[in-house]
Amino acid sequence: MQQTQAPAELAIEPLKPGFGAQIFDVDLQSADEETLAKVVAAFHAHGAILLRNQTMKPDDLMRFIHAFGEPELHTQTKFCLPGYPHIFKISNMEDENGEPIGAHNDGLGWHTDYSYKEEPVMCTMLYAVTVPEEGGDTLLADQVSAYNDLPEDEKAFLDPLKVHHSLVHFIENRDFNSYEITDELRQENPDVIHPLIRVHPADGRKALWVSTGTVKHILGMDDDEAFKLVDRLVDYITQDKYVFAHKWQKGDLLMWDNRCTLHTGTRYDDKKYQRMAHRLWVKGDKPIPVAE
Ligand SMILES: [Fe+2]
Repeated sequence: MQQTQAPAELAIEPLKPGFGAQIFDVDLQSADEETLAKVVAAFHAHGAILLRNQTMKPDDLMRFIHAFGEPELHTQTKFCLPGYPHIFKISNMEDENGEPIGAHNDGLGWHTDYSYKEEPVMCTMLYAVTVPEEGGDTLLADQVSAYNDLPEDEKAFLDPLKVHHSLVHFIENRDFNSYEITDELRQENPDVIHPLIRVHPADGRKALWVSTGTVKHILGMDDDEAFKLVDRLVDYITQDKYVFAHKWQKGDLLMWDNRCTLHTGTRYDDKKYQRMAHRLWVKGDKPIPVAE
């Protein structure tokens, strides 16, 4: 059974009541293995963690991510840090030829990472290298509380639903993107079916695992009806009471459990400000449906 209480000696405050944890007085670059294990336990207990004022070089990020599991490679390899295929650059910056050096606006729209894969990533880590002075917040929604608050008849309706996710559908229906649909991309990213209600493998908590972007159909429903349902559920789950809005500072490290959260980036004035964040993923497992 997974630990459900973070060790008492870590100084922790919730990001919002009942969700997430800000961890104080830990310098991840110099932290020993025992301290890292406590940080990992806090992550699993709270669904998301924030540590501020960190100074993490790429090797430090790699050491830290390994404490959570095996790092996952990224879909768009062209934006990975040279020599670090597990570190992906989110940025509006350009190189000397005017070419983008990172993915820009990729994370806009409520979603869960890698939803178009059989085994979506377990967690996402973002580390802030350069931050805009305003805007560009990252929003996290607590899908477990949202599910638990549903009326029983709605839970019974949603529990068996299955969602068809497609990366190609996502790319084809965006008004901007940095992907190119190639045969290779299609072959490496076949469509997948996932449960709408996802059961957490550690302790059985259920999450309203709705998403946008990669959702192409809900099985057994016509598409009008399906997208009305998705819109309604996303409106529901993104009410203020379920959402933590993170305002970035340089040196912030934020990570969340994709099995029980939904997230989105937000826009900033990209003509006025520069942004650089490093993203790392940890491999996940096949989503578990509610037992039928
Ligand atoms: Fe994302």
